[in-house]
Order: sequence, then C-alpha cells, then structure tokens
Amino acid sequence: MSCYEIEGGRPLTGRLTVQGAKNSALPILAACLLAPEPCVICNCPRLSDVSVTLEILAQLGCRVKREEDRVTVDPSDLNRCRISEQLMGKMRSSVIFMGALLARLGRAELSFPGGCELGPRPIDLHLRGLRALGAEILEEGGSLRCRWTDQREGREICLAIPSVGATENLMLAACGVPGVTTILGAAREPEIVDLQNFLLALGAEVSGAGTDRVIVRGGNRKLHGCTYTVMGDRIAAATSLCAVGAAGGEVELTGVEPEHLAAVLDCLEEAGCQIRTEKDLICLKSGGELRGIGPVRTAPYPGFPTDAQAILMAALAGGRGTTMFEENMFSSRYRHVDELRRMGAQIQTAGRAALVIGAGALHGAAVTSTDLRGGAALVVAGLAAQGTTLVRDLRHIRRGYEDLEGTLTALGGKIREVPEP
Ligand code: EPZ
Repeated sequence: MSCYEIEGGRPLTGRLTVQGAKNSALPILAACLLAPEPCVICNCPRLSDVSVTLEILAQLGCRVKREEDRVTVDPSDLNRCRISEQLMGKMRSSVIFMGALLARLGRAELSFPGGCELGPRPIDLHLRGLRALGAEILEEGGSLRCRWTDQREGREICLAIPSVGATENLMLAACGVPGVTTILGAAREPEIVDLQNFLLALGAEVSGAGTDRVIVRGGNRKLHGCTYTVMGDRIAAATSLCAVGAAGGEVELTGVEPEHLAAVLDCLEEAGCQIRTEKDLICLKSGGELRGIGPVRTAPYPGFPTDAQAILMAALAGGRGTTMFEENMFSSRYRHVDELRRMGAQIQTAGRAALVIGAGALHGAAVTSTDLRGGAALVVAGLAAQGTTLVRDLRHIRRGYEDLEGTLTALGGKIREVPEP
C-alpha cells in the first residue's frame, strides 16, 4: 500500500485543465450499449471507476479499447445481459447498466449494488420507475433479474427524490420503450445534460435535461454510433480551487463550465478568495487562511454539491472563523471529520450538522482516506497545514481523480506517493 506524503504551507500557483467528469463518463459509457455500433468517448478520465465500467462492458461482450483519454466501445457483438456480483460490488453506480441492457437487449441480470462509505444507497426509485415502464424485476437473494413484459410502454414517471442515478437509468431504459416517457422530478445536474447530449448524438429523442422534466420518445428508431467528448469534472475543479483557496496562491483553471460549480465559487468568494470567470476559465486568487462563511447546506443541483462538502470543510477548517455545514444528501458523509481532527481541526457534528471552528492553520498528521471525496479533503487540508501529512489508503482517491498528485505538483504543491511506512 502507498500513501501521499504532503509538505504543507506552500502557496499553489499555475494553470491547469480539469479532467473529464467521472459522473458523466460512467453513465455515458453504459449508454454506449444502446447502439449496435462503435462509440468513441473523448476526454474520458483514467480512473478506477472507469476501468471497472470498461470491465463490465467487456464482460457483456463489447470490444473496448483505451488510447490515452479516448475510449472506443464496440457493442456490436453484445451477447450477455449478466453482470457478475464481483464487478457489481466494485462500484455501486453500475446499477445504471440495468436501464441500458433493458433498452438494448430487453433483459438484464445483476446484483444489488452494495452500500458504500456514504451510508445506505437504496435503488427503490430506479426499480419503481423501471416497473412503471413495464419491466418485470425479480429480486432473489440480492440478485435482480429484469425483463420487459408486454406492458412495456412510455408513460409519466414521478421521482420522489431528484435522484441522479434514477434519472439516468430511466432515461436509458426509456430509449428502448415505445412511446413518450416523461420523467417528472428529474435530477438537474450538468451530468444529466451531458448524458442527454450523448443520447442525441446516438440518434435518440431526448429533451428537458437540466430541468425537472425529461422527455424521451423511445423504441422508434435504430440508434447509431458516435464520437462524443465528456464535459469537465466540476468536483475535481472544486477540489483544486479549494486547495488553492486554503493554501494561498493563484490558479487559472480551464476545461469546466464555471456555472457548473457556481455554488462552490460563491462560498470561496465569501471566504475571501478573488474569483474571475469567463466561458471556459476560472481564475482564483487567495491569501490563504479563509474566513468563516454562512451556512453551507448540500442540496440537489444547482444547490451546493454534496460531493464538495468535505473538500470545502477541509479548506475552511484551517482558516479563521466559524461555518455551519448541513449534509442533506447522504446519512454518513462526515467520516472525514475524525481524520481532520487529527490535524487539529475543531469540528463538532450532530446528525446532519457540522460546526467548523477555524482557529488557524492545521498541523500535519498521518490520516486515512475514508471515501473518495473525504480522501481528497485530507489532501486539501495537508497542502495548507504546517508540516508533513501522510494520507493513507489512496484506493478511494483513485476512483475519482485521474492524477491528483500530478495536478497539485504542477501548481507547486509538495506531494508525492511513497510506500506506507
Ligand atoms: C450520484 O450518485 C453521484 N454518483 C454521487 O457522486 C453524488 O454524490 C450523488 O449523485 C448526488 O449528487 C455518480 O453520478 C456516479 P442519488 P447517486 O441517487 O445517483 C437517495 C462522487 O463522489 N436515493 O442522486 O447514487 C440516496 O440515498 C459520488 O462522485 C433513494 O433513496 O445519488 C441519496 O440520499 C458520491 N433511492 C439521494 O437519493 C434511490 O432509488 C441522492 O442520491 C436512489 C437514491
């Protein structure tokens, strides 16, 4: 096992281009199954979650090839509808393959995706929506066997929660259902818009993504292959910006839409950063030692993204001033707090609330990643802390960051991968 060794307290300065969006690439790669022709996905980040997705595609009979940031998926010979429990267990978002397989083959066999470090990850909204479209889904001992019945027909579906995954799963399934499907209460995340744009490139009829009403006219035309470029990763962008905000310095960041992380930029500006944005450019300048800000409540897009909660908390924990966080999306998303406390952070949690009391720079310590964004938060804290920080268990970070070490080193950060002592 290796870990990151970080020498903190140095300003970060430079230019960087953000990686492709993990939470866009994953559903888009699954959606490649919909067309019986090859698709080329550009700006596809090199992440372990992407590698698992490519393994699943290969297991289903697709030919998969990666060249740098371009991935070619040829599903012409797709001949299996079953995903092994071993692969399903590696990544919970593989549940997205249910909708894709139903749309292309009319059947799917996979296992319940596990929970994860964020707490239980139910898929009831996925299952209810697919059944409403006419799918029979048998749940037997943790496995899910799905097939269309002769009631397969487009209809109106209302999501009780604007679930990103459920919205995406239903968009894919609806492409294989004759008639018009309307998803009410849909998630509005930018990744949903990216998926819609990919489906349109395949020749599907989808509209409304980015609003709470997504409409799919399915089952009426043969889809074709395409070449598509994945949007920039707004959470990876937020991570780099929070690192510069906390450590001090100046960064010019390209490759992501500023409006996709407007809620994060607002918080960083309130905390004392100077921010300037243009169409494809975010410039941030910071003297370090951020100020406390008004309550940070995580919410569905365009609210403050839950994936940036730990990262912003880490940036504020070493500043001056008090900030109240409220995590409203997941039940167990404060597991990074204990690790930040080992670095001297003063944070009190009670249920969904966390009170961060910034009392000046944190100190380096040996800490352990608890989950993907919690791990990134520890790196952000380590870059701003006085002294040396060791961040262990990099598996989590590798799920979502293409080269966090390289990105931060390019900004002048002293971070290197070393064997775990
Ligand atoms: C997506 O997860 C993202 N993952 C998550 O990013 C992100 O945190 C989350 O959306 C919220 O924005 C990917 O896109 C691969 P949800 P997803 O369904 O789709 C409840 C990261 O760090 N819910 O929008 O699984 C659920 O428990 C990851 O990159 C149900 O109750 O999230 C949660 O409380 C972490 N029943 C809330 O909805 C369901 O059937 C939002 O979950 C589905 C969800």
